[in-house]
Amino acid sequence: MSGIVVSRGAPNRRLRVHSTVVRAAVIVSTGGPEVIEIRDVPAPVPAAGELLVRVAASALNRADLLQRAGRYPAPPGVAGNIPGIEFAGEVVDAGSAVDRARIGQRVFGIVGGAAHAEFLVAHERAVAAIPESLSWVQAGATPEAFITAHDAMCIQAALRPGDRVLIHAAGSGVGLAAVQLARAFGAVPYGTARTAEKLERAMLLGLENGIAVGEDLSPIPAAVEDWTNGRGVDVVLDLAGGPYVAASLEALAPRGRMMLVGTIAGRRSELDLGRMLAKRLRVAGTVLRSRPIEERIAVTLAFAAEVVPLLESGAVSPVIDSVHDLGGIGDAHRRLESNATFGKVVLRVSDDATPA
Ligand SMILES: NC(=O)c1ccc[n+]([C@@H]2O[C@H](COP(=O)([O-])OP(=O)(O)OC[C@H]3O[C@@H](n4cnc5c(N)ncnc54)[C@H](OP(=O)(O)O)[C@@H]3O)[C@@H](O)[C@H]2O)c1
Repeated sequence: MSGIVVSRGAPNRRLRVHSTVVRAAVIVSTGGPEVIEIRDVPAPVPAAGELLVRVAASALNRADLLQRAGRYPAPPGVAGNIPGIEFAGEVVDAGSAVDRARIGQRVFGIVGGAAHAEFLVAHERAVAAIPESLSWVQAGATPEAFITAHDAMCIQAALRPGDRVLIHAAGSGVGLAAVQLARAFGAVPYGTARTAEKLERAMLLGLENGIAVGEDLSPIPAAVEDWTNGRGVDVVLDLAGGPYVAASLEALAPRGRMMLVGTIAGRRSELDLGRMLAKRLRVAGTVLRSRPIEERIAVTLAFAAEVVPLLESGAVSPVIDSVHDLGGIGDAHRRLESNATFGKVVLRVSDDATPA
């Protein structure tokens, strides 16, 4: 049971919070999913400009798996032993300089870590209001996938209506958010995956066409040529990295833009730099977790302005692979690690977050 007691003080709905300890997923040593234990930890305390959020739902990310394995430490200032980089929950208290009318709001967002816990603190401007149409579980499945896809593809790669975009690992959480956002922005999404069934399911969500690949990636440029009548794609959203980067350079149209978002397929690639010059390509990498707070506020504001209305109208929706209770976090890690997922692995942190 949580050591924070939240009580609603009628009639102004203010909440009183008495902090002691809260339940959290704790990485007790480096290793497999068994090194995560549910333990009581000191309750977080909101500093000036911060909100205290009672987490209803969160979701898993590759960053959590890497952190557990000791290969992706939390950024400075963030608890290094509690994973979790996204959340949906209710504001229950706030530090100084925060409008107390925020208390009681349903908010979601990304944090540097420690989201797999009953309570967390977040900067008051680095959260967005959750539309009423989203359940807690849906809201918990949303921030990392949609903010990453929106920031990389729509903002940094400046996706325009009519653009053709190739998404590698299209059946991933970020990939499925990108497929839907591409459609909502008037672009045409194509995809790759190693599992044909994921591409078939992604086509129901708006993917125009896709190719299932194995070790040999040479069919990718040929497929893109076929799909685009020889023109190539305007944008690549590369969630895989490694040898996919070289295939992407071949698939891009002249003056194409490539965003490297993930390196799940490897950190090295042999590139034909001459192709990059001749096509006048722009290639950039991106990461969210370690960005300074001002930049995380900016991406959250852009998400709130451009993506939340699409979530509200149902034009885009989070795709949920499975839902696990906080106590079942080991199974959630195993599920994500299996590579069998289609969409997000959600963590139900409070009893309010019944599956949608
Ligand atoms: N830069 C950032 O800020 C940021 C933020 C979020 C995520 N990411 C990265 O973006 C990528 C997608 O994240 P996600 O959370 O959406 O992933 P996810 O839901 O866990 O899905 C990843 C999928 O990638 C495919 N995959 C696994 N290993 C692969 C390999 N060696 N080669 C090719 N495909 C492989 C698997 O599907 P199939 O094998 O069935 O195709 C797997 O289901 C990850 O690399 C993640 O680290 C980066």
